[in-house]
Amino acid sequence: MFGKRSYGVIAVGILLVMTLFLLLFGSRLFTDIEEEAHITQENRIVVGVSQLGSESGWRTANTESVQNAFTQQNGYFLIFHNARQKQENQLKAIRSFISQRVDYIIFSPVVETGWETVLQEAKEAGIPVILMDRKVDVEDESLYVTCVGSDFEEEGEKAGHWLEGELVRQNRSSQSVNIVILAGTEGSSSQIGRSAGFATVADRHGNWNILEEKCAEFTSTKGKEVMKTFLRRYPDIDVVVSQNDDMTFGAIEAIKESGRTVGVNGDVMIISYDALGDALEMVADGTINVDIECNPNQGEYLLEVIDMLEAEEPIEKRYYVEEDVFTIENVTEEVLNGRTY
Ligand code: AHR
Repeated sequence: MFGKRSYGVIAVGILLVMTLFLLLFGSRLFTDIEEEAHITQENRIVVGVSQLGSESGWRTANTESVQNAFTQQNGYFLIFHNARQKQENQLKAIRSFISQRVDYIIFSPVVETGWETVLQEAKEAGIPVILMDRKVDVEDESLYVTCVGSDFEEEGEKAGHWLEGELVRQNRSSQSVNIVILAGTEGSSSQIGRSAGFATVADRHGNWNILEEKCAEFTSTKGKEVMKTFLRRYPDIDVVVSQNDDMTFGAIEAIKESGRTVGVNGDVMIISYDALGDALEMVADGTINVDIECNPNQGEYLLEVIDMLEAEEPIEKRYYVEEDVFTIENVTEEVLNGRTY
């Protein structure tokens, strides 16, 4: 009925009508969507979380716990930022949360010092700050509302007490014992607390020789590297205290490659922290002697804290998560099956 030319004219006509429609109603449509998103966010509690990085299995589990807690279904709008181990990135993230006027700021400080100014800015903006996992070293404690995390000093003491008991059990409590320490991120609460707690117990034993404590940054690669240095420097290491499981995995590889054995029936005793699923398997088969648990499941605790703040209930300045100590005696099938990280 229509010639080729007529089809062309119709097509151009349709295009013109569509363009006109988009011009008239398109912008309205997008504004509606934006408004809706804004309203959705407005009805929710907006939480800005600055995670310090993703250096370890523990950190991944901690991030998942927070992301599973602050969901839209639970009434939250989560803005999550990973600082990749850099304090400057955390400072930027916190400042961006302040300018976005979030309702709460949660952050896991990579190190303890250097936070006064930014916390003061958050306080002046009226945004409550909750510390997760690690602490900050500030004179004015009103700069944050509470802190949810582990008692790292107690974890360090638990490691020391385990070693005391084990040496008695092995009838070696009066013999000289050579110890090396793989430390986590220098200046972080977990490093400071675990080193101090272990030292408190070690100081009571003149026969415990701490040969060296060196930073291995909580990573497996660094753990292996630093352990190799220790093995070259010290031929008679009896005990390795490794401040997290990731460093322990690397250290065990280095020790085995050097021809020495580890664990319950080995040459070198292994004391580790975190109690990740893979590490607990190694406790169960005797590769790791003891694992001091550090509980990454802090999301639920943080939810409760915000619930209390929303209800204007009084809150404590410090909440400690529950933690255990695992040896071959108590890593049961049930424990292994229950571990989700
Ligand atoms: O601050 C907690 C520590 O940080 C965990 O022990 C470690 O694995 C993590 O990276």
